[in-house]
Amino acid sequence: MKIQATDIPTAQWSGDCLALGFFAIEPESVTLDLELDQHLGGLLKELIQETNFKGKVGETQSVRLASGTPRQLILVGLGESTLLSLDTLRQAAAAVARIARKQRCQTVGLQLPPWNQETASSAQAISEGIELALHQDHRFKSEPDLDSAAFPSQIELLGLGHQTAALERAQQVCSGVILARELVAAPANIVTPVTLADTATELAQTYNLSLEILEREDCENLGMGAFLGVAQASDLPPKFIHLTYKPSGVPRRKLAIIGKGLTFDSGGLNLKVSGSGIETMKMDMGGSAAAFGAAKVIGQIQPDVEVHFIVAATENMISGHAMRPGDILTASNGKTIEVNNTDAEGRLTLADALVFAEKLGVEAIVDLATLTGACIVALGDDIAGLWSSEDQLAQALTQAAELAGEKFWKMPLEEKYFEGLKSPVADMKNTGPRSGGSITAALFLKQFVKDTAWAHLDVAGPVWADKESGYINAGGTGFGVRTLVNWALS
Ligand code: BES
Ligand code: MN
Ligand code: ZN
Repeated sequence: MKIQATDIPTAQWSGDCLALGFFAIEPESVTLDLELDQHLGGLLKELIQETNFKGKVGETQSVRLASGTPRQLILVGLGESTLLSLDTLRQAAAAVARIARKQRCQTVGLQLPPWNQETASSAQAISEGIELALHQDHRFKSEPDLDSAAFPSQIELLGLGHQTAALERAQQVCSGVILARELVAAPANIVTPVTLADTATELAQTYNLSLEILEREDCENLGMGAFLGVAQASDLPPKFIHLTYKPSGVPRRKLAIIGKGLTFDSGGLNLKVSGSGIETMKMDMGGSAAAFGAAKVIGQIQPDVEVHFIVAATENMISGHAMRPGDILTASNGKTIEVNNTDAEGRLTLADALVFAEKLGVEAIVDLATLTGACIVALGDDIAGLWSSEDQLAQALTQAAELAGEKFWKMPLEEKYFEGLKSPVADMKNTGPRSGGSITAALFLKQFVKDTAWAHLDVAGPVWADKESGYINAGGTGFGVRTLVNWALS
């Protein structure tokens, strides 16, 4: 599928399917492109009136024309013009792409107004919406559904003729989102700590990034007892992955992105029971998928910032040498942790990753983790939690997320709740009480950052989708990649 931009007047465009965006309209006072309406034999006006099309966000109407070109007409609502956002454009483009595929249209002309007169970012968002909506993952089917993948083959963005650079940017961004989706969607017998390291190696080779992979012994030498405690029961070797993008000149700033990389979370000896979500715990590496997705994009864009991508990859398994509830682990900063619940494993792996990241002398560290079910209880499936002790960093991330169309909600680092993590025998426990579970998890992580600006993103809900919606398809969503890229470039 090819996306192009053109300045051909809409009335002169020819192809299978013409799609038009409309702001919220009063049916009595429709303002239309009269030349276009005439070209369509007055059908546009009739369709709007007969279907009572109001141009609400998400509203679509489509109709088969008698003959000739276009043969399919799609109207897509954009809501109030003053409330238009980049994500409304992304969603509208996705809705059109899905209808065009269903109607087996080969060529599509899509006309949408730019957001905020920013034609470049609008063209990028529209293109992202199309690309991500049409992405299909047939890797694990013996007979792929090639038929639906064939439609549409070409989409032209009308009125955006000079935006080829923006379309290329969209392509780069989507390649990262799709990498993250496919890493999350792949089962735990396919994406393992070893293959995650292979993915990093491939990224390093393709985009000229530097790569350091610490084996178990290297981690032992660094005193990463928290990470290794989690890795203890797996038959697969743990891999501590450190991928770095360095610009050719002096970097404007240096950043670190850490992704939780549990390729499977059984819960350990505090085994997850059936129905507790153990069936979907292949997605417990969603944070690392976002980090690698962002690395893929940043490796292509080559900005003037240095970015470190860090993933402590392992599985949380059971065996005769599994870490036991009650075991005390020592992290690489010397702090001791009483493991009162082996299922709170993500924070143990992140503890050593945070200590490692801080030693790199970066200006800011952001970690992404499918850390707690409690965060899903608090914010639902679509919104990630954001914790940060630095308002400026929280704001930069919020702005990056807004442009990305990814939802975050700022949560409190309520120091008093750390009382719930006090241990009589060690410096802290890894698990607090049930209430405020996502907050105590964030407070736990905070113990492993001394004085670097740090933010924690709990992405347990949004990295996975049970059903398709907008440009999101069922399965791995690639959540986080676009926010990370926007943040790194800001
Ligand atoms: N990976 C899970 C969190 C999770 C739950 C992610 C559901 C996605 C969907 C994490 O390792 C975990 O098991 N957390 C426990 C923590 C508890 C033991 C303090 C949880 O949330 O139940
Ligand atoms: Mn767990
Ligand atoms: Zn987990």
